[in-house]
Amino acid sequence: MLKKIATAACAVLLGTLTACGSSGGQSGGSADDGKITMGFAQVGAESGWRTANTKSIQEAAAAAGIDLKFSDAQQKQENQIKAIRSYIQQKVDVIAFSPVVETGWDTVLLEAKRANIPVILTDRSIDSDDTSLYKTFLGSDFVEEGRKAGDWLVANTQGETNVVELQGTTGAAPAIDRKKGFEEKIAARPDIKIVATQTGDFTRSGGKQVMEAFLKSTPDIDVVYAHNDDMGLGAIEAIKAAGKVPGQDIRIITVDAVKDGMQALANGEINFIVECNPLLGGQLMDLAKKIVAGEEVPPRVVTEETTFTSEQAKAALPERKY
Ligand code: AHR
Repeated sequence: MLKKIATAACAVLLGTLTACGSSGGQSGGSADDGKITMGFAQVGAESGWRTANTKSIQEAAAAAGIDLKFSDAQQKQENQIKAIRSYIQQKVDVIAFSPVVETGWDTVLLEAKRANIPVILTDRSIDSDDTSLYKTFLGSDFVEEGRKAGDWLVANTQGETNVVELQGTTGAAPAIDRKKGFEEKIAARPDIKIVATQTGDFTRSGGKQVMEAFLKSTPDIDVVYAHNDDMGLGAIEAIKAAGKVPGQDIRIITVDAVKDGMQALANGEINFIVECNPLLGGQLMDLAKKIVAGEEVPPRVVTEETTFTSEQAKAALPERKY
């Protein structure tokens, strides 16, 4: 009975935490079976990229023999903070998380540090002066991704070009950095203008909704720059509904290169995609093992990525893993 009450309380407290108490009531993974226990606080399930990232982490943990406690924050920082606190209470060996937004993490990460639990940032970084709060950051260079998108547009447009921007989640590292990198590259071309910019929260429905509003409020849209494929795919639906041809009447640049995005690129509905690799699981588990063993790891591990044109997408699609 008591166990049932505790389990129910745990579920209420942690919302979507899926592995609450999964170590059979023992606190801390290193306690009994010698296995490493990792508490992972995921952003949510907002995009195809995120789904692939979650799968990669879960599969890599199983392959590495790491006991994974996984939570889905449903894109809310408060849920991630709760999850991290619960991992601290459970005395996991290592905490990894992909921060929903950049700021507001110092207090909870200090709690982890005081409990001697190392933290790994994965996919997204935080904005903090105290770099001792985490051991390493594994993920993409989002500013560079924005630069690649800007470079393509600069090379592929002439004359007045009106761009609408579908931003990722407000305050999230990829939204801030992809905007920054893109703006840096188009700055040399005063004929390229961002005429409207708004968040679509990295979701397909958000991209569609914002694009519908842009199409009503903003005349002469030439290009959509979407911070991820899902928002670009939502924009395609809105453009078609407005009687225009995506990829022709309005050109589309996105970031991620997940299968649905790559298919739209191969079909000519998206014009260019900057890759953001979600398959971080293997590297994350390797880093976790080293950190738990007390070995030094580099403070920053950058993911290798490329870009795709329509022809390149056609060639890559048959082998695409996500
Ligand atoms: O942090 C990575 C970004 O988050 C991906 O580009 C996006 O699809 C996801 O939601």
